[in-house]
Amino acid sequence: MLRMKERSRLSGTISVPGDKSISHRAVMFGSVARGTTRVDGFLPGADCLSTMECFRKMGVEIRQEGPTSLVITGKGWEGLKEPREVLDVGNSGTTIRLMLGILAGRPFHAAVTGDESIARRPMDRVVRPLRLMGARVEGRAEGSFTPLSVRGGGLKGIHHQSPVASAQVKSCLLLAGLQAEGITRVEEPALSRDHTERMLTAFGVKVKRDEKGVAVEGRQTLFARDVRVPGDISSAAFPIAAALITPDSRLRIRNVGLNPTRTGILDVFRQMGGEIEIRHSGEWCGEPVGDIIVSHSSLKGMEVGGEMIPRLIDEIPVLAVVATQAQGETVIRDAAELKVKETDRIAVTAALLRNLGARVEETDDGMIIRGGTRLKGNRCDSHGDHRIGMAAAVAGLVAEGGVTVERAEAINVSFPGFEELFSRL
Ligand code: S3P
Repeated sequence: MLRMKERSRLSGTISVPGDKSISHRAVMFGSVARGTTRVDGFLPGADCLSTMECFRKMGVEIRQEGPTSLVITGKGWEGLKEPREVLDVGNSGTTIRLMLGILAGRPFHAAVTGDESIARRPMDRVVRPLRLMGARVEGRAEGSFTPLSVRGGGLKGIHHQSPVASAQVKSCLLLAGLQAEGITRVEEPALSRDHTERMLTAFGVKVKRDEKGVAVEGRQTLFARDVRVPGDISSAAFPIAAALITPDSRLRIRNVGLNPTRTGILDVFRQMGGEIEIRHSGEWCGEPVGDIIVSHSSLKGMEVGGEMIPRLIDEIPVLAVVATQAQGETVIRDAAELKVKETDRIAVTAALLRNLGARVEETDDGMIIRGGTRLKGNRCDSHGDHRIGMAAAVAGLVAEGGVTVERAEAINVSFPGFEELFSRL
């Protein structure tokens, strides 16, 4: 249980845990590369630890030298061995979908499963194209859901037109494509986060990108390299939102990843009137990094949709919290993908905010939030979803009487130390 009291001011200089997407990829790519990969700034959250355990079960030596530093001894694609145990991804959609792309090319059997939430998330979006490439994948409901079993190998490249802008789908197919014969090309309706493209390039892979998509030639080797993981902008979004809505606040967040496919939330907060300064400081492993300075601001509502959505998909619950404190209406549309995240984040976010006295209407592909509401404190449930738990906690900062978050341990999935960080501000 987490208790967040109403606060009159937040200030300080902080850093947030390492980027979740980049941490997963560092473990996976290091595991199939040739040579030793050192990872610094790794996110020791439950999801990334699941990735680490899965690759250990396939015989990869991964030494955790400290909470955020790893040394991975890669022996190439062939270094992966048939696992004796079920690969359990826990709550992590990124682990299962990217790992399926790797398993699809390996000539062995693997059984893959996850928790209750994973069991509800669609896997057919990767299973179908992987089958077209030649992988044998079986599972519940014709392979649409976990548990799944894979026997890989003998892949041929495909041209895949993804109906959804999903980095997990794109990355899965590129990872399979690297082990296939011929070229694999993926096109998506809008550009999703491109960490895979950037990190593969850093690992010596040739990745061809153009306006419409991305392609790789098969039978490529990854070469190990050190990875320094920047702070996760999706985690930074919570203290940023907190500072924007809490009177007299000013925060500096150091070394946050500023990949343009992830910074939609900064653009939207700024368009709403948020005072946010960005100071770029360099590039880590192909990823732009810098500090973010944010102050309490007077905000107005706006419309968010279209190509912006994949650039802030994980930040929508906390954006909705901020919208309750803005003047006027905020409309979020084209975000139906939220229904198949860790929870149905449209339904759960709307219910959470209404429970605190906000005026929120659910729509088919988003929600409408009427701002300018004085929130009322209450007990809230994370529903086992880390980002819902944190969004509820941020709402507590401006809710009369504060908020109690039940099942707050879910927050450890992406933001270990969340509660302590807020108590220090
Ligand atoms: C992720 C991609 C996104 C995002 C998730 C992480 C990734 O999911 O929501 O938190 O690391 O590739 P989708 O690919 O399903 O959009």
